[in-house]
Amino acid sequence: STSSIAYSVGVTLDRFIKMKQDDFPYASGELSQLLRDIALASKIVNRETNRAGLANIGGAFGQTNVQGEEQQKLDVIANIRFTRALTKGGEVCAVVSEEDDEVIDLQNGSGKYVVAIDPLDGSSNIDVNISIGTIFSIYRRKTPVGSPITVEDIMQPGNQQVAAGYVLYGSSTMLVYTTGHGVNGFTYEQSLGEFFLSHPEMKAPDDGKIYSINEGSYNQFEEGLKQYISYCKDKNYSARYIGSLVADFHRNLLKGGIYIYPATTKAPSGKLRLLYEANALAYIAEQAGGAASNGHMRILDIDPTSLHERTPLYIGSPKMVAKAEEFLKAHK
Ligand code: AHG
Ligand code: MN
Ligand code: MN
Ligand code: MN
Repeated sequence: STSSIAYSVGVTLDRFIKMKQDDFPYASGELSQLLRDIALASKIVNRETNRAGLANIGGAFGQTNVQGEEQQKLDVIANIRFTRALTKGGEVCAVVSEEDDEVIDLQNGSGKYVVAIDPLDGSSNIDVNISIGTIFSIYRRKTPVGSPITVEDIMQPGNQQVAAGYVLYGSSTMLVYTTGHGVNGFTYEQSLGEFFLSHPEMKAPDDGKIYSINEGSYNQFEEGLKQYISYCKDKNYSARYIGSLVADFHRNLLKGGIYIYPATTKAPSGKLRLLYEANALAYIAEQAGGAASNGHMRILDIDPTSLHERTPLYIGSPKMVAKAEEFLKAHK
């Protein structure tokens, strides 16, 4: 049968989406098309990240974004590529991007979906050739299709996501996503321009021995977190921190581990953004059997109050997240 042939040469993303079509709550195919649009943009961004040093698209763009960060050229390029692909795809009515101060209203009266995106995650690593990523969340708009975009469409808690995923531009380029029926990983075959299913049904190990945190801010950590870090050291865990959330998250998802970007005295809500970093990875983590909290509550239950709001993030193997929360609670 064709399915056995497909498995022997590898299932492409397109074929997988088609096979899973009946899993989608709204099997009219728009979400499938939207996932394809995102995959297409990621292939273009992949090509540009692979040649940044040659095409003079490395380095700073010369503007500061709403985060107060100096935008890198690739931040801007990736933002344009993804926004353009989502506009052309026709399924999306609004985009929230790390790189745009305001909601981008695509003026698309038939778009059913809202996308929140971090077009390029780990920008500080672009020029030193360390893995970077893209993170996205997909929601259905809440107000009637064709009506003006409202706050209700945009400020949705993470538990309303219909899909979420990330692209990892690493030693190989991977697309990992969920539509609420488990997590599947696809590896990009450059020579064919196709993503092939390489990591079916990804599962987070229940426990792990890797902790990822920027200990440079140790003196600003709350007491419970300091105690948890000492606990990790007593257990001889490995410290692994790349400075690219997607890469750290992906390694911990495969091997078991916890990634922490905590509240600090300088950044009481941490650094990572709820709408286009924490929510997407929290949905993926939970769909893979992992956990994601802000230290005391589930990320997916946080009601957003502002577009670029930040949240502390404790994410990865459920037993490790629970242990960290235990230490935080004990030292409140
Ligand atoms: P972005 O490049 O999208 O702004 O995100 C960067 C984030 C995340 O990728 C990374 O883990 C974290 O910033 C690193 O922050 P520190 O350098 O403060 O550790
Ligand atoms: Mn940034
Ligand atoms: Mn980011
Ligand atoms: Mn970014």
